[in-house]
Amino acid sequence: MTAVKVAILGFGTVGEGIFNILKEKRKQLKETLGVDIEVAKILVHNVSKEREGVDASLLTNRFEDILALPQLDVVFEAIVGEEPAYGYLDAAIEKGAHVITANKVMFAKFGQALQEKAKKYGVQVGFEATTAGGVPVIKTMETILRVNDVLHIQGILNGTSNYILTQMRTEGISFETALKNAQDLGYAEADPYNDISGQDAFKKLMILSALAFGKQPNWEDVKVVGISEITLEQVQQADANGQRYRHIAEVSIDENGKIHAEIGPQLVDAAHPLYAIDGVDNAVALDTNYIGKITLVGPGAGMYPTASVMVEDYASMLSKQSVVVPV
Ligand SMILES: NC(=O)c1ccc[n+]([C@@H]2O[C@H](COP(=O)([O-])OP(=O)(O)OC[C@H]3O[C@@H](n4cnc5c(N)ncnc54)[C@H](OP(=O)(O)O)[C@@H]3O)[C@@H](O)[C@H]2O)c1
Repeated sequence: MTAVKVAILGFGTVGEGIFNILKEKRKQLKETLGVDIEVAKILVHNVSKEREGVDASLLTNRFEDILALPQLDVVFEAIVGEEPAYGYLDAAIEKGAHVITANKVMFAKFGQALQEKAKKYGVQVGFEATTAGGVPVIKTMETILRVNDVLHIQGILNGTSNYILTQMRTEGISFETALKNAQDLGYAEADPYNDISGQDAFKKLMILSALAFGKQPNWEDVKVVGISEITLEQVQQADANGQRYRHIAEVSIDENGKIHAEIGPQLVDAAHPLYAIDGVDNAVALDTNYIGKITLVGPGAGMYPTASVMVEDYASMLSKQSVVVPV
């Protein structure tokens, strides 16, 4: 039995979920993967805050303590923003650890650099949780891209925006009231700018573009429009015409290899794969050359959807390591 030490950066919604799942599934993962996974350190800002079920000796606010762990196998990253997250993961890779992140803001910008570095150091990068939360869009794309080309992607990548548009239609309420409801229910942040401006969806779309096409468009060339200008009257008029507003993040590649990306509200009719996606769900519709069209739908955020796909990323790294090729 191999024993491995893992570190978690952040103990908010996602970090706590990772910790709980690793604890709950320790025995099962031992049996299925032959690896005993021990959470050895957790990085937070505030070490004096009590964290339920967590031994205080696990907490640190010094990243050096994480790097100093002997047999550190993986770093789960669930903090916020580009830095220090990127610097931490870069250093973890240099130390020979796999890294798994939920941080789309960091990964949209630095994902490629991290992946290149990981290749050099013989470790892996997991980023399923950065895009559409619990919806397995990254692993699905990685699998189908082995044979298929992905030609066009359309996604509802921000659950808050989708919830607001859904509430406006089904409850007949204004954008402002629907936003307030989303905040009361904890779907939207106190500062909802990134959600309703389209910036959150933009970061996720850039991650999908890099995966599908090996590159991103110039960020300045991408038109990003949010949902705050949509009125109740427009939503009701659309509904009367059999159409719905969806906030769609869309990217494709043309025959010259140029990437076209756009984020904003679109009117769709009942035949569209994203027409039926209501509430906080996310969805990604992929247009591929051999399979045709695929649509994945599910929870785009939340403690356990997000944390569980990060632990799945790790389980798949461990199972790849244990593959023995006969000679
Ligand atoms: N929430 C979701 O459903 C969801 C879904 C998909 C992806 N994500 C992404 O996952 C990441 C984490 O989200 P979250 O909702 O879990 O955030 P959160 O609840 O705000 O928690 C953030 C945690 O990170 C710690 N932290 C932040 N910056 C730090 C730093 N520089 N050094 C040390 N600790 C730091 C905080 O420490 P303290 O506790 O001491 O303040 C806190 O424990 C974000 O990048 C987010 O975009 C979240």
